Parts: sequence; structure tokens; C-alpha cells
Amino acid sequence: MLNLAEETKPEWVERAVHALDEVLLDHAHCEKKAAGGALRLLFSYPDQDFLQEQLAELAKEELTHFQQLLGLLERRGIRFERQKPSRYASKLHALVRPREPHRLTDLLLTCALIEARSCERMKLLSEAPIDAEPRAFYKDLLASEARHHQVYVELACQVEPEDHVRARLVELARDEAKILETSGPEPRLHS
Ligand SMILES: [Fe+2]
Ligand SMILES: [Fe+2]
Repeated sequence: MLNLAEETKPEWVERAVHALDEVLLDHAHCEKKAAGGALRLLFSYPDQDFLQEQLAELAKEELTHFQQLLGLLERRGIRFERQKPSRYASKLHALVRPREPHRLTDLLLTCALIEARSCERMKLLSEAPIDAEPRAFYKDLLASEARHHQVYVELACQVEPEDHVRARLVELARDEAKILETSGPEPRLHS
């Protein structure tokens, strides 16, 4: 259960298949950012002990994914380099409510939605007509990205009552779908 408001359109898959190397490079950046996002929460909330263990584990997994992607890029002869990022994450971040405990809830839920969208699109790529190695890689990653989504939602449910969290997740998921609709033409995991 990924809690997304809208499914990815087939046009995205078509674009991604035709620009797979660019998507893979973007994906490498996304994994590194996912690790950084989890670490940032650990640094911002050192007093919230329920976050520490699970987010440390999650950050480790994301870094492992990042390393796997570096290997994949190398085998495809793609240099890891800076890339024009999509505005997706910063637009999502702008929705975070400023006051606690809502701020922490929203930070966790926006991470949950990023994980959900990654997972949804990895599934699409694992079924798309692309080379065998990236296809198998995407298939491998699915389970852990779905679990990351779940972990973030469950952590949010420890911050505020579950019904509030679920209602907020529905709202943010609608916003997430709108953000995707208005994102740029670059073939990105989140565009
Ligand atoms: Fe990951
Ligand atoms: Fe993840």
C-alpha cells in the first residue's frame, strides 16, 4: 500500500526508457539524497529516540543502494556527475507545516511519499523494455523502497494520533501528484 493519490502516466515510462542513462544517474543522486534525508532527521531530532535506530538502518540501506548504482553506472560507462535536479523534493518540502509536532509529522510523511513514488516507478521500470541488468536491479530494490515508505508512515504515527497522520497523508499525496504534473520535462525518477 503506497498511499499515492495518482498513478504515474505511461508517457513517463516511455520517456524514462528512452533516457535510461539519465534516469539511472538521477536515481543515484536520489539514493544519496534519501540517505542524507534520513541522517538530517537524526541530527534535527536527537531527542526523539524512537527515530534513531530505524532511520540509521534506513540511511545505511540507501547508501548501499547508492553504491550499487555507482557500480551500475560504471559498468554502463556513465560518469557520476552533477545533474540539474528536479524541483520535486523542494516543492514537497515547502508543504511542511512550521510548528511542532506537525513539522516532524510532515517531514516524515513527505519522505514517505518520495519513497512511495520511487517504489511505484521502480516497479514500472522493472517491467519495462530496458536492459536486463537495470531491470533486475529495479526488481530487487522494490521491496526495500516499499518498506521505507511503511517505516516513515509508522514513525509519523508515533508523533501524532494515527487518524490525524492518515488524513494528512491523503492531503500531502494529492499535493504530491499535483507537483509531479507541473514538473519539468527532464527524465527524472521524480519528474
Ligand atoms: Fe533506496
Ligand atoms: Fe528508500
